[in-house]
Amino acid sequence: MWRTDQAPNLAAEYLSSLGDRWEHVQTVGRLADWMIAELGLSPEIAAAAWLHDIGYAPALAVTGFHPVDGATFLANEGAPNHVV
Ligand SMILES: [Fe+2]
Repeated sequence: MWRTDQAPNLAAEYLSSLGDRWEHVQTVGRLADWMIAELGLSPEIAAAAWLHDIGYAPALAVTGFHPVDGATFLANEGAPNHVV
């Protein structure tokens, strides 16, 4: 079963070797985590923030268009529609 709190680890698994891309994703994800804590937004928003560039992972490239490849991967992983 997919859990929103797995998003940072999933992002790290696929993006941590990508240098500046991984730095960017961590910045976005941590900002979203802060917003969730301070503003009470849905945890799915933070998960989506952590995973918004997952389609840049070379291992997930199918079409070469990162939004589509990322969304396809997340849908196949069982992520909620808001995260996909
Ligand atoms: Fe991005």
